[in-house]
Amino acid sequence: MPISQPRSPEVYLNLNVRGMGPSATLAINERSRQLLAEGRQIYRLGLGQSPFPVPPHVRDSLANNAHQKDYLSVKGLPALREAVVDWVNRTEGLDYSVDNILVGPGTKELMFLVQLVYYGDLVIPSPSWVSYAPQARIIGRNIHWLRTRPETGLGVEPEALEELCAQDPERPRLLILNSPSNPTGLCYDAEQLQALAEVLRKYRVLALSDEIYSGTHYSDDHVSLARFYPEGTIISNGLSKWCGAGGWRLGFFVFPQGLSWLADAMAAVASETFTSTSAPIQYAAVTALEDRPEMHSYLLHSRQILAGLAGHAYRTLSDAGAVLSQSAGGFYLFPRFEHHRPGLASRGIANGQDFCERLLEETGVAVLPGDCFGRPTQELSARLAIVDFDGTGALHKAETETVDEDFVRRHCDRVTTAVERLAEWASA
Ligand SMILES: Cc1ncc(COP(=O)(O)O)c(C=O)c1O
Repeated sequence: MPISQPRSPEVYLNLNVRGMGPSATLAINERSRQLLAEGRQIYRLGLGQSPFPVPPHVRDSLANNAHQKDYLSVKGLPALREAVVDWVNRTEGLDYSVDNILVGPGTKELMFLVQLVYYGDLVIPSPSWVSYAPQARIIGRNIHWLRTRPETGLGVEPEALEELCAQDPERPRLLILNSPSNPTGLCYDAEQLQALAEVLRKYRVLALSDEIYSGTHYSDDHVSLARFYPEGTIISNGLSKWCGAGGWRLGFFVFPQGLSWLADAMAAVASETFTSTSAPIQYAAVTALEDRPEMHSYLLHSRQILAGLAGHAYRTLSDAGAVLSQSAGGFYLFPRFEHHRPGLASRGIANGQDFCERLLEETGVAVLPGDCFGRPTQELSARLAIVDFDGTGALHKAETETVDEDFVRRHCDRVTTAVERLAEWASA
């Protein structure tokens, strides 16, 4: 009798995970890398990573804290939680307790935890950042995509929220509001936030205000939803975008006193999962949140460059007939090419996926299709991340030169060229 081969356990994947691929953003990056390896010129407008370096004084702080080796408190280093409290007080004029700050290895992880710990439907606008919905799916939450309109920049409208909540007023819900927005560049102003707050309060909806791009608001006018709905809003922020430190993996949530039960429950789960966030990074984050002239200057120049680039991209794309709103903050634009549909169809391009694949193959420009952000598959939309340039060099130049159209053409030419190629290709 032949000895039968030992067999590994059967594939019993969690059904919520079955069929899931890696995040769409990573897939486009992978294809870009392949083409690059084949010697092709690739313009990376797919992945939304900051083009700027971590500010030197924050890097120095990290180097000086390399010896910090102890596990830290699960909610975060007390000095960092104090720094977060001071920072929110300085930037938003709101008061929080250090006990209600939760530090984590990136806000993405904390978002997963809040969806796990809070029991409620996820409510997000279409389009929304790529990971909110997959996280809900993994956990097994319902997802409700709010209808949006181009006239209002594809953002959350109080009427749409009211309509949803009125259907089942007692139902627990978590709304994620992202401002400045990935993927649209939309920034909500005080009046819009006030109107949304009224509906949120009426139905006691839990709100997660994803403000990870706050420091990149082009006119430095970022306003938190927490100013208008303090009792129901968790502020989410971190070092990944405005501080250029995505790979450092540090984010934090700020809870009002009435939601301390949620902060405590998340901390309990955190203690059984990631334990605590990297110690040296937490010490460096204290420095990043300090009120320092170096930081103000870094943020000012980052914003000027991003605003200049976003302005150039907006003009180029709208002149070519794309429909989009002007970005007011962040790294992104979200054009739609419906007017180009007949021409694109004659070239065999029928949806956003075709659009992005063919664009990459034919011009080397990598962008993401709108369906990754919850838009209909057929829609000819795409998200552009205007980040493929030498951020260190551009920041340096911005200290002595005026940031205008000419500046971005000279110092961010990969992005300006890519956007021009895209506009030309779509109209061909
Ligand atoms: C809108 C938005 N929210 C949250 C995140 C997650 O950021 P992190 O986990 O680096 O804090 C990102 C990152 O791309 C993002 O674009």
